[in-house]
Amino acid sequence: MFATRHFCLIACLCANIGFSMSANAADPMSGDAARGRAIVAASCANCHGADGKASGKAYPKLSGQRPEYITEQLMNFKTRSREDLTMTDVSARLAPADIRDVAAYLSAIPAPVERTSAAPAPTPAGERLFSQGNPAAGVPACQSCHGPRGAGLAAAGVPRVAGQPALYVWSELEAFKSAERGTEGGNVMRIVASRLSEKEMQDLARYIAALN
Ligand code: HEC
Ligand code: HEC
Repeated sequence: MFATRHFCLIACLCANIGFSMSANAADPMSGDAARGRAIVAASCANCHGADGKASGKAYPKLSGQRPEYITEQLMNFKTRSREDLTMTDVSARLAPADIRDVAAYLSAIPAPVERTSAAPAPTPAGERLFSQGNPAAGVPACQSCHGPRGAGLAAAGVPRVAGQPALYVWSELEAFKSAERGTEGGNVMRIVASRLSEKEMQDLARYIAALN
């Protein structure tokens, strides 16, 4: 595929220059954003957009996402605790320094403020679930972790969800519910999603897609 050819190019490039740039590899905040931009342009832009503001319905936006979270998820794809045909392949070709640089570049771009075009209209049920949960079913309020506007929480490793395409949010909730997607520390999202009905997941996906 088109994207795959670029990966070979990047992989070779990185094999040559990777080491000289890999000081502070442990700290995702210290990446080289200019180098990250070049990697994104060559290997990620087709799906996520050159600025991380993907417009496709199935692709998550990466701009403004927490750098720790971008790093963690790329490692999850690498170790296959999170499975996705494309991203398994993509992540396998990224060296630790590449991941750090890509995270530095993407996280510094302001998150999109405009709604995803043709996002389905949110329902009051989605808003209620997000802000209050459903105590009767043991569903906690999403905002208690993801924040009242869905911006996430850096300290606790909670990702930004605001403005993600509804289809993407819904498919991730499904993946947590079916335990197809692994989670970090404590299995929180698997437990939360297992208590959501199909209708509730759809309502939440619409609401989250409209948040900014
Ligand atoms: C051919 C399309 C495609 C390409 C190219 C691609 N991705 Fe992805 N990416 C996806 C899809 C689809 C998902 C959602 C996977 C899922 O549902 O688990 C994803 C998910 C992600 C996630 C997780 C986001 C989240 O909110 O959980 C990160 C981080 C990511 N990609 C980074 C990258 C980087 C960095 C590159 C380039 C080096 C890249 N991707 C290239 C399609 C792509
Ligand atoms: C106790 C804290 C907590 C609560 C409550 C919570 N979440 Fe999460 N959520 C997380 C964490 C932590 C992650 C990252 C999971 C991982 O690293 O695998 C996450 C990930 C997600 C993701 C995947 C985002 C991405 O791009 O990868 C979605 C979608 C999501 N949550 C939606 C929800 C919804 C909807 C609710 C309410 C019904 C909710 N969350 C309640 C902590 C929480």
